[in-house]
Amino acid sequence: MDIGIDKIGFYTPNVYVDMEKLAEARGVDPAKYTIGIGQEKMAVAPLHQDAVSMAANAALSILDEEDKQAIDFVLFGTESGVDHSKSGAVWVHQLTGIQKGARSIELKQACYGASAGIKMAMGHIALNPESKVLVLGTDIAKYGLHTGGEPTQGAGAVAILLSQNPRILSLDNDSAALTKDISDFWRPLYSDYAFVDGKFSNQAYLEFLSDVWGIYKEKTNRDLRDFEAMCFHVPYTKMGKKAIMVLTEDADEADTERLMSYYQDSVYYNKQVGNIYTGSLYLSLLSLLEQGKELEAGARIGLFSYGSGAVGEFFSGTLKEGYKSQVRTEAHEALLESRTELSISEYEEILELALPKDGTDIDIDHKEVKEGTIYLAAVKSHIREYVN
Ligand code: CAA
Repeated sequence: MDIGIDKIGFYTPNVYVDMEKLAEARGVDPAKYTIGIGQEKMAVAPLHQDAVSMAANAALSILDEEDKQAIDFVLFGTESGVDHSKSGAVWVHQLTGIQKGARSIELKQACYGASAGIKMAMGHIALNPESKVLVLGTDIAKYGLHTGGEPTQGAGAVAILLSQNPRILSLDNDSAALTKDISDFWRPLYSDYAFVDGKFSNQAYLEFLSDVWGIYKEKTNRDLRDFEAMCFHVPYTKMGKKAIMVLTEDADEADTERLMSYYQDSVYYNKQVGNIYTGSLYLSLLSLLEQGKELEAGARIGLFSYGSGAVGEFFSGTLKEGYKSQVRTEAHEALLESRTELSISEYEEILELALPKDGTDIDIDHKEVKEGTIYLAAVKSHIREYVN
């Protein structure tokens, strides 16, 4: 059965920080952030945008009435969950008007959550060919002010609709995966900020890539020449370049050049948003689909997912004829262009805002919310109140 991505969209909050200005404020050469790390703008989540509202906004941008009736599984991948018990998927299900006979759950394994959702969706559709499955990757990447990870923060969500006979990307059942218990990046329950061993996390990411790529090649007999382009988990865009360098160590010049040229298209959005953890790989795929030239039907795209802690997986898909007419390039460009730049002091204030931890009621300032955007309006009697 042909199963894969039928629709894909993203949402990011409407405020950002300019990376050159952040570098100046931190006494760092701006080229370190824009070239060394590879980021131009960093999305910041105001208090009225959390993992749930961002995912709901991303989903709403792609779903029509027919989809809402056909979706019977909502899979919410995040490491920025808002409740220890209730899944973010339940709110998204309600906020987007998906038919009530669906199941809704949350998945967690650092930046790998949405990829786990895609694997589960493929199995579900194989057993239930008429189903459509909504997979969400939604996160707020937060290391804190004046930390090593500060220039690699961000916020946003990707929504992916999977079905049989997809119109964008057919996914192969060709995965190579790996799990290993390591402490490269994590966020204890008591902390709003992630803990990270930055250099070790880079090294772990690249070792996982090298290992799963080796397993994948053996399993499928495919090699670099079989891939038109590759997309990677992109915590910051330089990481994608490092990934290609690992894969092309002994490669022909032609393979290296081809992968490097598509890499530029595939990180266009990530450069302007920052790390969105579990959605990052799919934001990179979306960037390739929308910002790159139209590729031939059947062209194979490799996908590497990495979730610290850690799980890595390499898998692939082939493009469908006419996929360019199924993506929403203009809407996504407009979303990025309509954002407001924050001063460094405004950014610092927003980043440190948090909901009360003692259960006090709060009304959340949402003066800046654009019409039609879902947001968190209040928390009353320990219950979150979202507004659509
Ligand atoms: N001009 C151009 N380049 C410059 C420069 C300048 N003036 N100054 C420095 N650079 C380059 C450096 O040479 C370096 O390049 P390479 O990585 O190619 O060697 C790059 O800028 C970064 O410099 P440093 O290594 O000195 O930077 P740092 O010590 O501040 O740490 C970081 C960078 C490790 C990415 C840090 O920001 C961090 O910890 N980020 C969070 C962790 C992370 O994103 N890890 C990624 C893998 S884990 C994962 O993928 C899961 C996830 O989402 C978190």
